Amino acid sequence: MKIRMFGIGVLAMSTLLAYPLQAQQSEGQAMYREECKSCHGINGTPPARERAKYKKLRTLGDSGFVSALSVDSIVTILTNGIDKNMKSFSSKLTTAEMRQVATYVKELAAKLEARKK
Ligand code: HEC
Repeated sequence: MKIRMFGIGVLAMSTLLAYPLQAQQSEGQAMYREECKSCHGINGTPPARERAKYKKLRTLGDSGFVSALSVDSIVTILTNGIDKNMKSFSSKLTTAEMRQVATYVKELAAKLEARKK
């Protein structure tokens, strides 16, 4: 009986812990689709039109492009912007939102890299 209660407790706890993680991921995804997709593509591969326009734009799965960056350094990039092609997002997203979208971008990059192997 004691063991069973413990099992239920663990189950309830892991459900509670998993919920905010999932919610965060879908918020990151929604922000990515709103703010980043037009240039970086829905799955991290930029549409040909965008690639023709921005010579330096690579897929998020190109090694070192994103997977080598930490969430914090992506947040710094988003805060400061890179150049006139990718401007600062600090007027559009809060730091917390940048963290969520950065986490999502790293997930997209990991998926693209896994597909290449
Ligand atoms: C208007 C087009 C555009 C939008 C919108 C855009 N980007 Fe970019 N991004 C670029 C380009 C172009 C580059 C390549 C560097 C360059 O040419 O300046 C880039 C580079 C990056 C890099 C790599 C930095 C490096 O130099 O290694 C990251 C990370 C990134 N973008 C994330 C994002 C995220 C996250 C969003 C949405 C919040 C976003 N971008 C929105 C155009 C865009």
